[in-house]
Amino acid sequence: MAYPILFNPFLLFISFFILLIHLPVHQAVNDGFSVNLIRKNSITNTLSQRLMDTTQANSYANLGEHLLELSIGTPPVKIYGILDTGSELVWTQCVPCPNCFKQLNPLFDSTKSSTYTNISCQSDNCHQEYTGECSPQNTCGYTYAYGDSSITHGVLALETITFKSSTGKPVQLNNIIFGCGHNNTGVFNDHEMGIIGLGRGPSSLISQIGSSFGGKKFSQCLLPFHTDTNISSKMSFGKGSEVSGDDVVSIPLTNGTLYFVTLLGMSVEDTRFDISNNHETIPKGNMFIDSGTPPTILQQKLYDEVFNEVRKRVPMNPITDDPDLGTQLCYKTPTNLNGPIITMHFEGGDIHLTPIQTFIPPKDGVFCLAFTNTSNENRGVYGNFAQSNFLIGYDLERSMMSFKPTDCTK
Ligand SMILES: *[C@@H]1O[C@H](CO)[C@@H](O)[C@H](O)[C@H]1NC(C)=O
Ligand SMILES: *[C@@H]1O[C@H](CO)[C@@H](O)[C@H](O)[C@H]1NC(C)=O
Ligand SMILES: *[C@@H]1O[C@H](CO)[C@@H](O)[C@H](O)[C@H]1NC(C)=O
Ligand SMILES: *[C@@H]1O[C@H](CO)[C@@H](O)[C@H](O)[C@H]1NC(C)=O
Ligand SMILES: *[C@@H]1O[C@H](CO)[C@@H](O)[C@H](O)[C@H]1NC(C)=O
Repeated sequence: MAYPILFNPFLLFISFFILLIHLPVHQAVNDGFSVNLIRKNSITNTLSQRLMDTTQANSYANLGEHLLELSIGTPPVKIYGILDTGSELVWTQCVPCPNCFKQLNPLFDSTKSSTYTNISCQSDNCHQEYTGECSPQNTCGYTYAYGDSSITHGVLALETITFKSSTGKPVQLNNIIFGCGHNNTGVFNDHEMGIIGLGRGPSSLISQIGSSFGGKKFSQCLLPFHTDTNISSKMSFGKGSEVSGDDVVSIPLTNGTLYFVTLLGMSVEDTRFDISNNHETIPKGNMFIDSGTPPTILQQKLYDEVFNEVRKRVPMNPITDDPDLGTQLCYKTPTNLNGPIITMHFEGGDIHLTPIQTFIPPKDGVFCLAFTNTSNENRGVYGNFAQSNFLIGYDLERSMMSFKPTDCTK
């Protein structure tokens, strides 16, 4: 869902001093675990042109998001949350909900859970950049807004979270800070029940899990857009989530609460476009890896260069007469294109993308280049279409990311 928009930038620095008081307790000792990642087609929403809409870069009614299934509370209630490395907070819709988006499953009801605890306004956990409002009952209010203009308001609380691990053994985490959202808006499909923030800030799921499963790290393998929704892929936490092999590309993270990396330039086949001829002048961390944003969002100049080069190299006429497609580069073709290969030149190594990661069908028989543009000259977003079919490791202790080409459907 992209980056959070901070409400009080003056409080931003405070988060660096917060120590998490409530360390999660779990059953396994120093062993990692894996969970399934799924996608769900909404019954009510159909795939629309919003899929590629520039202004609503992260608002996708369908399939553009990857969901993590977890349970919350005691007894456990099942939640499907959007997997989002581009934000921090873990939240779900809660009753009473005067303003919730429609979801098929029942809303979480804290009064029915024996492990739910409100966080008080005095708690250290209530001094984050997105907290502030204190209710008359002294509960810690939060407001968390996203780059796509989704927004959630609610109270911060502690709860037990349980994952169904792929070995079948449940993994339980106690006292996880989460947002109980009572007023939530944005474009969500009706299977989605909240967002699981996996950024590097103190309240993200991975920061709360910490190194208790054998290392503060995780990996995920996102399914390509076309994949049958009956197929799931894997996400692993802690020990066992390492990404290894000869074909791994390791990319250093720069500082910051998200996964910022440095993009030097891009190539379309063998034509290279550098952000600057002098690599020393390229701002560090000019792109972040965001599993919650579908397309890759490029700075205008790079976008124009890549767009024009792709158009030059594809031996077909682009669609020009479909208003739904706007200014996107789209082709009428029953199956995906044969090329070109697009390379992301990151500091640390090159990632080669094939059409499965770069061309997406917003409607039947139409494939469009899955990049969009931003007027922000300093920062782009590496979206989840481009991440698909890579096993991607996030090692927060070593400040490294690893990319390994992988068939995530297997
Ligand atoms: C929900 O939040 C919006 C701002 O995001 C506000 O305008 C609206 O009044 C709130 N609605 C309720 C019922 O609290
Ligand atoms: C949490 O706070 C709300 C008021 O914001 C209150 O209604 C509820 O009873 C509290 N829950 C617990 C378990 O203390
Ligand atoms: C997906 O699973 C459902 C339920 O098991 C089944 O009815 C459907 O045919 C499957 N779809 C495909 C494309 O295999
Ligand atoms: C990150 O922060 C650390 C400590 O403040 C500093 O030593 C290091 O140089 C920074 N690294 C980058 C890439 O900015
Ligand atoms: C994106 O590019 C198109 C075509 O080049 C342009 O019309 C549009 O204004 C750009 N949008 C942004 C947000 O820069």
